[in-house]
Amino acid sequence: MGRFSPLLAASMSVLVVAAASLLPAARAHNITKILAQHPEFSSFNHYLSATHLASEINRRLTITLLVVDNTGMADLLAKHLSLPTLRNVLSLHILTDYYGAKKLHLLTGGSTSSSSVFQSSGHAVGTSGYINITDHLRGKVTFVSEDSGGGSPATFVKSVEELPYNISVLQISTILTSPEAEAPVAAPGPVNLTDLMANKGCKDFVDLLHANPDVLKSFQSNLDTGLTVFCPDDDAVSAFSPKYSNLTAAGKTSLLLYHGMPVYYSPQLLKANGDGPLSTLATDTHNKNYKYTVQSDGDAITIKTHIVTAAISSTLIDQDPAAVYAVDKVLEPRELFKIPEKETADAPALAPAASPQKKTKAAAKHKATGHGASPPAPSGPEEAPADDVTAADNAALRATRAAFAAWTSLAAAAAAVLLLA
Ligand SMILES: *[C@@H]1O[C@H](CO)[C@@H](O)[C@H](O)[C@H]1NC(C)=O
Ligand SMILES: *[C@@H]1O[C@H](CO)[C@@H](O)[C@H](O)[C@H]1NC(C)=O
Ligand SMILES: *[C@@H]1O[C@H](CO)[C@@H](O)[C@H](O)[C@H]1NC(C)=O
Ligand SMILES: *[C@@H]1O[C@H](CO)[C@@H](O)[C@H](O)[C@H]1NC(C)=O
Ligand SMILES: *[C@@H]1O[C@H](CO)[C@@H](O)[C@H](O)[C@H]1NC(C)=O
Repeated sequence: MGRFSPLLAASMSVLVVAAASLLPAARAHNITKILAQHPEFSSFNHYLSATHLASEINRRLTITLLVVDNTGMADLLAKHLSLPTLRNVLSLHILTDYYGAKKLHLLTGGSTSSSSVFQSSGHAVGTSGYINITDHLRGKVTFVSEDSGGGSPATFVKSVEELPYNISVLQISTILTSPEAEAPVAAPGPVNLTDLMANKGCKDFVDLLHANPDVLKSFQSNLDTGLTVFCPDDDAVSAFSPKYSNLTAAGKTSLLLYHGMPVYYSPQLLKANGDGPLSTLATDTHNKNYKYTVQSDGDAITIKTHIVTAAISSTLIDQDPAAVYAVDKVLEPRELFKIPEKETADAPALAPAASPQKKTKAAAKHKATGHGASPPAPSGPEEAPADDVTAADNAALRATRAAFAAWTSLAAAAAAVLLLA
């Protein structure tokens, strides 16, 4: 047996290395370093660092930076804006999508609109913070802020650096103007969560929060330490209102808390999370209930609760430690709503091993855990968690079997080598 050990150890380490290489590579830009190679942008580079926007750029995975040369920056500095205001203006130049020179010249319909970091800074109102990009005849491309206030567009000069589809640095002729971005800001004060959501399409949700001050307090108390909120837009809340009025007071509280997480998740962090269930403000740590998973496909991010799949339609704010996203559906936890027929019908096939005994146990456990305070109106979700536990068990078992199969075949190969030797 001792003779096998080195080879087994070797085969194990092969597995470990193979598994490690499947993890996404930790990768960060260093915009300061990129721009340092281009002295004509030294002023822009200096102010990216001074306003802390450099780290904002570095932590994002897909980004386009529009830079102006030192002459262009001198025009901006002549306005004698405060540093926080300068930050707003410069954040208008950081687009949250990738545009290489080639993509600019292939714009469908000749124009597009891109959101900027200013748009999600919490300082922008309405459509300010969006940049119109237009591909004109003869290859001229212009950039203009949607609320430019009549200011003339900047034109594309040249591509400075492109790492498709991670970071693109493009030179433009002049600074983008926006009265909104240039409006004097004192210090970056605390975000007013309710105003922010109400002004950006989630007014009905804010009204529900006002009617549940404890939930609002719970959201607000996490603002400085880590908070992610999914606020359903007004259409979603209105479509949901018959179901909402059916809930008990405790059910309403759990439902609203379910829309917040006590952790800051940028879109990148949401995408990087994989399939793991995320805890919410409604989660009882002993119970591991009231969770959902997040999935992404390209730029699209969806939240799945077993009952509904909601899509993120916009980012209202993304400023570490707080992020607020608008979603197109109310997130319905399975603790409060019945899993759709189709899924319950599929469940036995997924989980043939679900024993009646296990179901009863899970149901009893569920009943015992205090959510009796919020009786599951309008349905009894007892079966669901049990089926789910079994499905998860089965998945885990399958994964273990697969890993074991891979390991045993390597071990067998190792043994064969020894036998041949
Ligand atoms: C980025 O590069 C600059 C200059 O090369 C360096 O001073 C700085 O420490 C780097 N920042 C990070 C986060 O690596
Ligand atoms: C930006 O594009 C939108 C939609 O195409 C348009 O309504 C708006 O007038 C444009 N704004 C500017 C300043 O060009
Ligand atoms: C862009 O990022 C991906 C990982 O997200 C990486 O595989 C790829 O090499 C990067 N591309 C460049 C040009 O750095
Ligand atoms: C947010 O602003 C509203 C008025 O616009 C105010 O009533 C409310 O108290 C503010 N909330 C906080 C937490 O400052
Ligand atoms: C509200 O509850 C009643 C009684 O349980 C039920 O008949 C009705 O379908 C429910 N309405 C909605 C919209 O869930």
